[in-house]
Amino acid sequence: MKAIRAHGFGDPGVLVLDDVPVPEPGPGDVLIRVRAACLNPPDWYARRDFAMFADEHFAGRERPRLRFPWTPGSDVSGVVAAVGPGVTGFAVGDAVFGLVRFPGLNNGGRAYAEYTTAPAAHLARKPPSVDHVHAAAVPMAGLTAYQYLVDHIRLPHGWTVLVNGAAGGVGHFAVQLAKTRGAHVIAVASSRHEAFLRDLGADEYVDYTATAPEDAVRDADLVVDTVGGPDGHRFLKAVRDGGVISPVFHGEYHREEAARRGIEFRGGQVHSDGAQMAELAALLADGSLRAGIDSVFDLADAAKAHERAERGHIQGKIVLSVP
Ligand SMILES: NC(=O)c1ccc[n+]([C@@H]2O[C@H](COP(=O)([O-])OP(=O)(O)OC[C@H]3O[C@@H](n4cnc5c(N)ncnc54)[C@H](OP(=O)(O)O)[C@@H]3O)[C@@H](O)[C@H]2O)c1
Repeated sequence: MKAIRAHGFGDPGVLVLDDVPVPEPGPGDVLIRVRAACLNPPDWYARRDFAMFADEHFAGRERPRLRFPWTPGSDVSGVVAAVGPGVTGFAVGDAVFGLVRFPGLNNGGRAYAEYTTAPAAHLARKPPSVDHVHAAAVPMAGLTAYQYLVDHIRLPHGWTVLVNGAAGGVGHFAVQLAKTRGAHVIAVASSRHEAFLRDLGADEYVDYTATAPEDAVRDADLVVDTVGGPDGHRFLKAVRDGGVISPVFHGEYHREEAARRGIEFRGGQVHSDGAQMAELAALLADGSLRAGIDSVFDLADAAKAHERAERGHIQGKIVLSVP
């Protein structure tokens, strides 16, 4: 079969199309004929050896070390081609999607390929009304938004929620999931995303290239910040005393000042979860959740897809279509 592999760190050009054996599904795994795989930031962070991050980014855990050759890709949508020992609940021919073995790098998902294996426990049935490209766009970003809003925050009905980086992978799902829970959503993004975000249900929109969101918003109950960075603490001005800040990415939030005002921090590392994928599948099927597609590339053009990812300002997700 064909698979994208990197044989060393570097620019997107290190991603090449190789001929490799079709993998065997182990106990509890299924073999998937991949129809679409999706890019996520860790795919290109890892290709660059996480060189853009200081050690403090990995506080409390080891800096990840890739082994080569490496096939990236945690998000997959495809059709079950074989089932390993002990698998129940899935059969050959089922259309499935999921976040595969995440967190995990060397033993993680290998979705940039014609076939990949995945633990059945990480998968759910793809809704028939959603094509593979749109399904592959969901797992990591959708689960992140779901695990933040449902598991970590337990978002109360009617809260005012500011989503920073609202047009990106995590942000655009967070906007929609917050709306399903009756939130008043303020989306923060650059100029070109307004129509996209209003169409997804955002009640207010702040173009951060024209207006600083921390000057435009007061007394939000929750800030979901997918951007982070050294000035993340500016959102202390936008959140009410006793509110919540959810940093999706590493940032500096002046936690002592926040603690004095009773502001809590909630969040954590996204992880694979087939049962939660089934929850997302139900929302996709009833139309209350949809994936925005920034761009689609053929599997063989994975390097071009990574170039697009590194240019930033993404609207939704970047997907690889596997013929
Ligand atoms: N905690 C976890 O488990 C977890 C899970 C998933 C992702 N993450 C991390 O979260 C971050 C976001 O992930 P993602 O997949 O959503 O990334 P993404 O798809 O690249 O989206 C990032 C978005 O941020 C916007 N943006 C950039 N600078 C901004 C600024 N100064 N203010 C407001 N918006 C800005 C970009 O578009 P515009 O600038 O055009 O608006 C883009 O839409 C990544 O660093 C990722 O590694 C963490």
